[in-house]
This record gives sequence, C-alpha cells and structure tokens, in this order.
Amino acid sequence: MQHELKVLRDALIIQIKDSPNLENLEELRVGALGKKGSLTELMKGLGKLEESERRDSGTALNNLKNEITSLIEVRKKEFEAEILNQRLKEEKVDVTLPARPFFRGSVHPIAQVIDEMMAIFGSMGFEIRSGPEIEEDFYNFTALNIPPEHPARQMHDTFYLPDGDEGERKLLRTHTSPVQIRTMIAEKPPHRIIAPGRTYRRDYDITHTPMFHQIEGLVVDNSTHMGHLKGCLKDFVNAYFEVEDLQVRFRPSYFPFTEPSAEMDIGCSREKGQLILGGGKDWMEILGCGMVNPLVLKGVGLNPDEYQGFAFGLGVERLAMLKYGIPDLRAFFDSDMRWLKHYGFMPLDVPSLISGLSR
Ligand code: PHE
Repeated sequence: MQHELKVLRDALIIQIKDSPNLENLEELRVGALGKKGSLTELMKGLGKLEESERRDSGTALNNLKNEITSLIEVRKKEFEAEILNQRLKEEKVDVTLPARPFFRGSVHPIAQVIDEMMAIFGSMGFEIRSGPEIEEDFYNFTALNIPPEHPARQMHDTFYLPDGDEGERKLLRTHTSPVQIRTMIAEKPPHRIIAPGRTYRRDYDITHTPMFHQIEGLVVDNSTHMGHLKGCLKDFVNAYFEVEDLQVRFRPSYFPFTEPSAEMDIGCSREKGQLILGGGKDWMEILGCGMVNPLVLKGVGLNPDEYQGFAFGLGVERLAMLKYGIPDLRAFFDSDMRWLKHYGFMPLDVPSLISGLSR
C-alpha cells in the first residue's frame, strides 16, 4: 500500500502542477477525491486490511488526501488570479465615453401647486385635514344643508356607488366640503384647517375632468366675520401668484352651506390671447367662499351665537393653469411624458414649510 500511495502521490503532484486550466483541474479533483476517485477507492479498500496495516495506511491516506486537497486549492487560486489579471489587461475603461442617460422623474404640477398652497396657508396657521374620497351622502350633502331633493344636488353630477347591503348608498365626494363637517364633528373649535384632495363629478370637456382637485378651507372661532375671510383670501392670492397687490373682487353667489356666499375674482387682462394677471379690466373667477351657514354650525352641535366661521373652496387645476400657463385641463391626467417633462418641477422646488404643518 505504501508504495502504491507514493506512486499515486507523485503522479497527482505532477498532474496538478502541469494542469493547463480550471476545467482540467476540476477533472483531476474529481478523479482523485470524487465519489469514485482513486483516493476514495483506496479509502474504501482499508476495511479489508489487517488491523495494524489498516492504521498506518489510514493515516498515510488521510495525509495524502489533505495534501492533494490543498495543492488543488492553491493551483485554483493561481488560475483565478491569472484570469483576473488577463481581464484587467484586456478591459480598458474609456473615460471619454458619454455617460449613460439618466432619467429623473419630476413633480407633477398638481402636487407642486398643492405643496405651494399648503406652505402659504401653513404660514397663516392653518393645519391640514383629510377625509375619504368614497363619502357618505350625509357628509357630502345633508350636513352641508343640501337635503335630499335639494336642487343643488343636481348641480353636482354625482358618481354613486352601487347600493350596499346596509344603510346609505356611498358616493364619490363631489367637493372637499365634507371634510369641514368631519372636522367640526371630531374636534373642538377654534378650527383653522385646509383640506386638499381629489373630488369627482360626471363631467368631461376642456375645462372639466371627472376627477379634479380642490382645497377646502375652514375657520371657525368666536366673532369671525367677513373681513377675516376677505383678508385671508387676498393675502393668499398675493402670495400664491407672487404679485404685490393683485386686484380682487367678491361677487355675491349661492352655496347652501354658506350665508352669505361669494365668488372671488382676480383682476387680469387678455392681450392677443395671453392672460396677464394683475391690473387690466377683466376678471377671472377663482374660488367660492362664504360665511359658514348657521344651519351647518347647528347641525354639528355648535351654537351660532357663540361661533361663526368662513369657508372657501379652491380649484387646484384652475390655479395651476393660471400660474403656470397650462392651456388644457385634460392634459393634467393624460400621463404624456413630454407634457410631464415640460410642466413638471424639480423635486427640490417643493417648499420645505410643509413639514412643519401636519400634526
Ligand atoms: N364646495 C364648493 C364647490 O365645490 C366650494 C365652496 C367651498 C364654496 C366652501 C363655499 C365654501 O363648489
């Protein structure tokens, strides 16, 4: 056995040393140490030997096995180093190549404008509230002094959900005003909140999409009056349009949940089809507003002799179109990459004030 081992050892050492590549080395390893390898076979044969010879041959075989294993390992490392060196030599980095194109997303104008508005109202002390888009009839209509059969319901072109098993049928909110009701029911006055979000109406043309965005505002306190409403909204449009002293006017209007109600216009002029904000002799309607109807206050358990409030609702798309010169409302939701690239904003343009706003 000893002689046999020596012959095998010499042969293996030479083969490993002369092995030309990794594949060949692997064949050698399997040939010696694999399941049917030469060394493995010898191991199997140990059982047939005499006790004394078995011990010596066993030790010698084990030593040889370890020796061959580590020789193969060393040779393998040499091959790997060689392959790496070869690659490093062949592969050159051409630093003059143009960089790969880098696609960066942009902030959608609607998100940008909502952020800007939140920052402005935030600086005036408003907090942000939200409510569900799938709303109950009670919050969207009844609690806002729009009982069933009220003609204002027709104006809202409501999307209704199929009847559920129990109780009221749900709808997609037609405005953000239900958030007023939810806030007044859940929290104690004074209230000073804005509620940005999606709203839905069955409408589709150049100035209407079935989904659009509003920002609701609500202030309720002791002795709140129309002067507060006007001052607040005037400050807001000056800050939003970044115009020193934008002309505004309030026109009497009607909303069931405000009394008196008004629509606010900003001064503008149109020259050769171009809209110029500030000055001029034209007016452009931008929002609905009014003093919270005492019936609405009573409905949420507030005494109108003690509390008064004002509310307003802005159309986000309309204000975005005016500020950034976007001509067609429907383009907001077409997901056209060219439009998004053109009208989108860099992420870093978002005002940082917002972070201080949410509770
Ligand atoms: N909810 C009204 C609308 O969508 C806007 C509005 C809000 C008017 C608050 C007055 C007060 O038309």
